[in-house]
Amino acid sequence: MSMKIAIIGQGYVGLNVASSAISVGHHVLGIDSNVSLVSNLNSGISHIEGVPRKVLVMGLESGKYRATVDFSDISQAEIVLVAVPTPLNNSGEPNTVLLEKAVDSIAPHLSAGTLVINESTSFIGTLRNIIAKRIVGLNSKITDFVVSPERVDPGNPNFNIKNTPRIVGGLNASAIQRAVDFYSSFCDEVVKVSTPEVAEAAKLLENSYRFINIGFINEFAQLMNIMGIPISEVISSASTKPYGFMPFLPNVGVGGHCIPVDPLYLQKNARDANLTSRYIELSEKLNLEMPKYSVERLELLSGPIIGKHVLVVGVSYKPDIADTRESPAGPVIENLKKYGAKVSWHDPLVTEFNGEKSSPILGEYDLALVLVKHQNLDLGTWSGKPIYCVNSTPSEPNWIPLFGSQNHK
Ligand SMILES: NC(=O)c1ccc[n+]([C@@H]2O[C@H](COP(=O)([O-])OP(=O)(O)OC[C@H]3O[C@@H](n4cnc5c(N)ncnc54)[C@H](O)[C@@H]3O)[C@@H](O)[C@H]2O)c1
Repeated sequence: MSMKIAIIGQGYVGLNVASSAISVGHHVLGIDSNVSLVSNLNSGISHIEGVPRKVLVMGLESGKYRATVDFSDISQAEIVLVAVPTPLNNSGEPNTVLLEKAVDSIAPHLSAGTLVINESTSFIGTLRNIIAKRIVGLNSKITDFVVSPERVDPGNPNFNIKNTPRIVGGLNASAIQRAVDFYSSFCDEVVKVSTPEVAEAAKLLENSYRFINIGFINEFAQLMNIMGIPISEVISSASTKPYGFMPFLPNVGVGGHCIPVDPLYLQKNARDANLTSRYIELSEKLNLEMPKYSVERLELLSGPIIGKHVLVVGVSYKPDIADTRESPAGPVIENLKKYGAKVSWHDPLVTEFNGEKSSPILGEYDLALVLVKHQNLDLGTWSGKPIYCVNSTPSEPNWIPLFGSQNHK
């Protein structure tokens, strides 16, 4: 059955949900505070990998999709779904200002019976204590609230909104059932949980689990490096165990909008309960040390980098996407410069990073450091000088892995 949905925030999460909803016949109003983004979307231009232009165009032409900056248009919506950024502030603490702003913007326009769903990641208690409280305070006609944390993994070729099970927790049974009906129209599996707090905590558990394990493998890589043991071989050997082991790879840091951010939302819940997650605290320290460690490791392998011209290749936070949010490439470049290198960067997907444009592969460089290898990376014009990379890549036997090799110069 076709539903009328308004989605607040047309970014990675919001536009992905919009695309899935349009594809199964729902009517979607995409609301975003970014005027030029809205204008692009209304011209059928998608800024998100995985959301094809043809879906937007189909939505626009059939009248099933429209983007706007005007919140009053949501009065017709049966479901209003919020997917806005929940970053950290300068002190590394949760910043829910945009979420609160979005909630305050929708509240006066919601019609009686509208279901409000939050997909933005936030600390446990956000749906009940922030979203529902604020909306009911401004518009007492609204009773149905649900949280369904998004699990989209941009660029993942195997898992998408359809085949990734979705968790739904709500403040009452009818709200949960309405959300299940909505998500079931484009997700293979919807899992009901007993409270919104369970759903919020599950999301923070998933990403904290990854954050902590990445911290551990980064520490383990340092030990293997000192002992001269090729960590890539250790990880692939351990991965032959068919149960009880999940591989994580060492990296020059942790990037993206979720993994380095979400554990600090959980840390806020811990602080409110007069606790500290020592695992999160330690993993954060370990992960933040990696850019400096990686540059020191590069020096150990290549010799001093002072005065050398280094081309950093791949500055997004992971392969095959253009997203540079929280990318460790920034701190790696800073450390290379601190150690006296001249640094340029190249990325076939990222046009601008830290106010600079991508440099060509062809140039007078002394070495390349590949942080992220996009499928469409073309090093065809590379001069033949050494190429270092983060982990060993069997397809590039001449590249020197920062963490996968024995110590050598
Ligand atoms: N990107 C991911 O892979 C991912 C995965 C799971 C969960 N999440 C979570 O989903 C939420 C959204 O993340 P995202 O990656 O889609 O962010 P994004 O930055 O890609 O998109 C958010 C959009 O919201 C708009 N916006 C901001 N404030 C607004 C407001 N008050 N009113 C209307 N529009 C507003 C912005 O202009 C932007 O276009 C975050 O809480 C994030 O942690 C993201």
